[in-house]
Amino acid sequence: MTKRIYINKLSEKKQETVIINGWVNVRRDQGKMIFLDFRDRSGIVQGVILPNSSAMEVGKTLREEFVVEVTGKVNERPEKNKKVGILNGDIELEILHISVLNESATLPFPISGDTREVNESIRLKYRYLDLRSARMKKNVENRFKIQNFIRNYLEKDGFLEIETPLLSAPTPEGSRSYVVPSRIYKGSFYSLPQSPQQYKQLLMVGGFEKYFQFARCMRDEDTRGDRQPEFTQLDMEMSFVYEEDIMQLNEKMLIDIVKTYYPEKKIQQIPFPRMSYKDAMKNYGNDRPDIREDKTDANLLAFLWVVDFPMFEKTGEDNVDGTGEWTFTHNPFSKPREDDFEKFMRKEGIGEILTTQYDITLNGLEIGGGSIRNHKPSALRNTFEIMGYNTERIENNFGHMLKALEFGAPPHGGIAWGFDRLMMILEQEPNIREIITFAKTGDGRDLMMNAPAEIPEKQRTELGISVIKSSL
Ligand code: AMO
Repeated sequence: MTKRIYINKLSEKKQETVIINGWVNVRRDQGKMIFLDFRDRSGIVQGVILPNSSAMEVGKTLREEFVVEVTGKVNERPEKNKKVGILNGDIELEILHISVLNESATLPFPISGDTREVNESIRLKYRYLDLRSARMKKNVENRFKIQNFIRNYLEKDGFLEIETPLLSAPTPEGSRSYVVPSRIYKGSFYSLPQSPQQYKQLLMVGGFEKYFQFARCMRDEDTRGDRQPEFTQLDMEMSFVYEEDIMQLNEKMLIDIVKTYYPEKKIQQIPFPRMSYKDAMKNYGNDRPDIREDKTDANLLAFLWVVDFPMFEKTGEDNVDGTGEWTFTHNPFSKPREDDFEKFMRKEGIGEILTTQYDITLNGLEIGGGSIRNHKPSALRNTFEIMGYNTERIENNFGHMLKALEFGAPPHGGIAWGFDRLMMILEQEPNIREIITFAKTGDGRDLMMNAPAEIPEKQRTELGISVIKSSL
């Protein structure tokens, strides 16, 4: 059993002899004395090896990032040497003994400053070193704190966190899905979820009423600053609710997160304003308007709900769904707004039908979205018919959902937050990669693990896969 003390607890141990574990953060050899800053997860402390100390011999061999166990006495600094407002500014560790637990090669980049100044490819290749920097550590810690807050918050409100499968069924609609070959069923594939949409609706049929999950989602799309091929949603679904219930619950939770963890930040408007899709397009030219009154204020948070989206749009050239003239704008499972339901069922004025979809945006980024779903099989089938799917295609692709809705499916709806995007804005990071512990590059590569990568011939044969090499 180690009796090590975390560095941020040292000031409670004045005049005592203690053991700390950690890394050599900085080393300043002044000949007769050596000053060493030590770092562990909790913070940094300055230590000193006094002249003639028996620790001097080992002290001379130390280099930055060596891993050490240090026995030392916690001394109060003389008044004139005290540094106010920084951790351990009032103490110094008089080093009595040092054991080297491991040595370290020279780091490929410095970690003491803001590592955002370092070439990002190098940071991603050596992510584990980047994570030693104070800013990355803070990001990882705050991500955990907010997740924990949300878990407790939702549990208190009667939600259950339920895991849903990663290996799921491919759908022809899912051209942006990653697929996983099956060894047992050669030539067949699982598909990784782009979101747990269908499973969470099936949980409502399963009678859980209030579900959430920090869900890993995979999308094989072009990445950008606010997108990663693998990201995390705070995914929620509820039964017997209206749009208003879901929006209010989410709004309150967002406000509580900001008030609890980011008290220095100001929310521009509470309750969050709402804007129709039409007005957003007319006045801002996009459906995630940045409505901040002062864009230079880094602490200003302007949340906005965007509502009244059209349910269908004409299929475009790059539309993958397409046999029909129409496709869904957001989510094929969404229900139209109450006023438009009759029109929807009669398949009239399709372009004018509005959906129950609500998106939430923050400072010009879409941080979440959801809707009330069609919980009756006839209504869901109607959506697919409007999109021009024939009976066979509907049955093959969505038969399982339609079947489930036949067995007393409750009215239900939900939402999913792009959790990484939210954290990126709250932590004032310029891109989503700073918030994802092991992020991929902008073009979807994992430089640390070297993925994606080819697999050996033997494995390909076992999986029944042959690869067509591209000349690119
Ligand atoms: P949607 O596809 O809008 O909805 O996704 C919800 C939120 O997830 C975030 N997001 C992403 N974040 C990082 N990288 C990506 N590649 C990425 N793609 C999306 C966005 C987005 O608002 N099942 C529905 C939700 C529902 O209807 O309940 C869904 O997935 O912030």
